[in-house]
Order: sequence, then C-alpha cells, then structure tokens
Amino acid sequence: MSKEATLELEGKSYTLPTVTGTENEKAVDISSLRANSGYITLDEAYGNTGSCVSKITFIDGDKGILRYRGIPIEELADKSNFVETAYLIIYGNLPTRAQLKTFSDLLTENSFLPENMKFHFEGFPSTAHPMAILSAMINAASCFDEKVMRWQWGKVKEFEAIAAKLISQTRTIAAYSYRKSHGLPLIYPKKAYKFTENFLHMMFSMPYEDYEIKPEIAKALDLIFLLHADHEQNCSTSTVRMVASSQANLFASCSAGVCALWGPLHGGANQAVLEMLDEIHKTGDDGSKFIAAAKDKNSGKKLMGFGHRVYKNYDPRAKIIKKSCDEVLTKLHISDPLLDIAKHLEEAALKDSYFVERKLYPNVDFYSGIIMRAIGIPVEMFPVMFAIGRMPGWIANYKEIMDEPKSRICRPRQIYNGAALNHYVPIEGRK
Ligand code: ACO
Repeated sequence: MSKEATLELEGKSYTLPTVTGTENEKAVDISSLRANSGYITLDEAYGNTGSCVSKITFIDGDKGILRYRGIPIEELADKSNFVETAYLIIYGNLPTRAQLKTFSDLLTENSFLPENMKFHFEGFPSTAHPMAILSAMINAASCFDEKVMRWQWGKVKEFEAIAAKLISQTRTIAAYSYRKSHGLPLIYPKKAYKFTENFLHMMFSMPYEDYEIKPEIAKALDLIFLLHADHEQNCSTSTVRMVASSQANLFASCSAGVCALWGPLHGGANQAVLEMLDEIHKTGDDGSKFIAAAKDKNSGKKLMGFGHRVYKNYDPRAKIIKKSCDEVLTKLHISDPLLDIAKHLEEAALKDSYFVERKLYPNVDFYSGIIMRAIGIPVEMFPVMFAIGRMPGWIANYKEIMDEPKSRICRPRQIYNGAALNHYVPIEGRK
C-alpha cells in the first residue's frame, strides 16, 4: 500500500508524504503544499491538525487510553507519585534512586521565593484571582534568577535546576496567592516535608500551629497533580510550545501556559463544575432541569466537566478520580450533597441520547473539584491546582522543542476574508 497521499487541485496532482506514529497514528505531511501549489490547509481550532511529533504522551481518545512515556496512567496512579512522574515526563525515563534523590533535592532547595518577591504580592488587590497572581509571579520570579534572565536557547547547562525551580516555586507562589487573598501571613516551606505535604503546610499552617497533614489528604492531592501532569497538545501546552518556539525563556513560556489554562473551557472547568453543582443544589434541582438547559443551545449553559476534544469515551483520569473521591470522602467521614448531585448528573447524562450521540463523557474536572473542596481548597484555587500539576508537562514540551535542532518558530497562516484594497479617508470626509 502506498505511503504517500495524492491531492488533485486545479487539474494538477501533488504527492504528499505520510507519517505514522508508534501507535499507528497517521498523518499527511502538508508542510510543502503551499510552496508547491499556493494552497494552505484550513482547520480552525486545529481539530484535525497535528502541530508536532512528540515522544511525551500518548492518548487514544476513542479507547480512553492515556500513557506518559508509554506507561498507562492507571499504573502510575497506582504505583508512582507526582515527583517521580514529573521526572518521567520531563526526562523520558523512570528515575533511578540516585536520579530521584537529585531531583527531589533540587525541588527542596529551590522551593523558597526570593525575600524581595514578597513585596510583589502586596500589590495585588485581595480580590485578585490566584491564576492572575500565579501567571504574573512566575514571570516575576524569572527576574530574580540570573540564569533564566541570561537564557540561551539550547545551551542551558542548568536546565535541571531551573526546571525544578519552576515546579517548586509554582507551588510556593500558588500557596502564597491563597494566603494573600485571605489576609494570612506567608508560611515558608519545610525541608522535612515532601512536595505535596509542603503545599498543604504552606496553604493551611498558622505561625502558631502547624497544619496536621492527614496522609489520605496528601495522597489524594498528589494523585490530582499526577493525573494532570501532561495531556499532549491541549490549549495550554500548545500555547507553551508556541511561546517557546520564539526561544522565550522557560518561565515566560510556562507563565503563558497558566493564562491559557485559566479559561472555563480548559483548566477553569473544575471551578465551573463546582459552581454548577452548587447552583443546582441551591435551586433544589435534582439535575434534570440543568441537563435540559445544557442541551438547549440558547440557554448559554453546558454540562461542565463533560465532553472533551480528544476523548470520545470515558476520560481514564475521571475514572481514577471518581474512585479516589469516594475513598477520600469516606475516610474523612464527609458526606457532600454535591457528590450525590454529580453522580446523578453523570448517570442521567450517560443515558441521555444528546450526550450519547455526541460521545460526551465526564472529563478529569468532573470529580476533582469535590475532592479539593473536601480538602478545604477554595474554588478559585482549583485551576491553580491544575497548573501545579501541569507544570512538568509544559516543561517537557518546552525541552522537547529546545532539544530539537530543526525546531522553527510556530507561525500559522490564515485565509483573509476582510475588506479588499481600501484607502484612507480624512476625518471630514467620513460618514
Ligand atoms: N454540555 C453540553 N453540550 C456539549 C458539551 C457539554 N459539556 N460539550 C460539547 N457539547 C456539544 C456541543 O454543543 C456540540 O453540539 P452540536 O454538535 O449539536 O453543535 C457537540 O457536543 C460537540 O462539541 P464541540 O463543541 O465540537 O466540542 P469541542 O471539542 O469543541 O469542545 C470542550 C470540547 C471544550 C471540552 C467541550 O466539550 C466543553 O465545553 N465542555 C465543558 C467544559 C469542560 O468540561 N472543559 C474541560 C475540558 S478537559 C480539560 O481541559 C482538562
């Protein structure tokens, strides 16, 4: 069978090479099409466009498969933790004991923010959204590091330390943004704590009393970080790659990722799910009215936490989170009416022909908010949790293009359909 595609255009025939991935994913390589024919391809919202070839994450959306560096997400969720998985995603292999120790030590050493940065937090109003603070402060943090400021594309010997600093400081900034918005004093990280425990400590400890870290809470939050660690070419990761392709530094590129993640159709969906469940609860609806509204295109409502551009099956992360949600709430003896509403909504939607025909299933955000609420994390911090988790994925994607000698600046084209040639009219003559 031919490995080439043939395209007929205006009576001429063009031969285009094809590319096949490890898991038999197929693409037609159109990179030479415009030069040869004058045509570009048009695919608004990139539903059918591969923007890169990548070795990091594999998703089969029809089968509900997600693997980091070839390892199924279910195995990592069961046997690994966030820090080990972060190493795997960034460097391509599970770390040896020595590699893991070096990486963990780098995370610990780099968890403090420069003292001067504290003043930057003072400038935000108490109502500031923590995603705004996170994105601004990641960029600000870069100004305090000589090596990031002198960033030389592809020549950064200290990449491992800088990447660890970004992961670690993102967590510290996240906790500080919460403290700031609640008028609480900032709490420093502790050397004795592991990554996720330290986050809980910086969020909830008081100067006069340390927060008691329950292992089941630390484990559930660590799992949420791990499940969010990468997800191939989504909106925020593509943004990071786009910015990185201009050879901007790692901090600047990932801070752009935070902005892209913020929206309710992406990482802001976990916040939107909780707000939706709360609204349903407050109005006394059992969910049926909301489902009817979500099916009505004029209502402006969607069933948040449902649907996915790639998954046309149950999101494998949602299955793991749903189980964890049940376990955490049982262990903490919490009965949350919003969990009952979520389960009812899921059951009803999965039987409803509207959702069945469109292959709309719960995504990772559908249950994660309920766990975070049980832990005591406020709703506006939910997308921030997503950003902490996603940082290794963004860094790995950044590294992938930095390590590729032939990488070029990303620059899509467009079809212009505005006014044809027009001329300047002085203001007196304008109608
Ligand atoms: N509720 C109701 N209808 C929906 C939903 C939903 N949650 N999601 C999609 N649909 C409908 C669309 O209206 C469309 O209907 P139509 O064919 O009659 O026009 C059809 O299903 C296909 O949907 P698209 O809009 O083409 O899906 P797309 O791939 O563009 O969007 C997205 C995917 C953004 C995730 C969408 O499903 C959505 O808005 N879901 C809710 C927000 C959400 O949960 N986002 C989190 C995504 S996961 C993540 O980022 C971690």
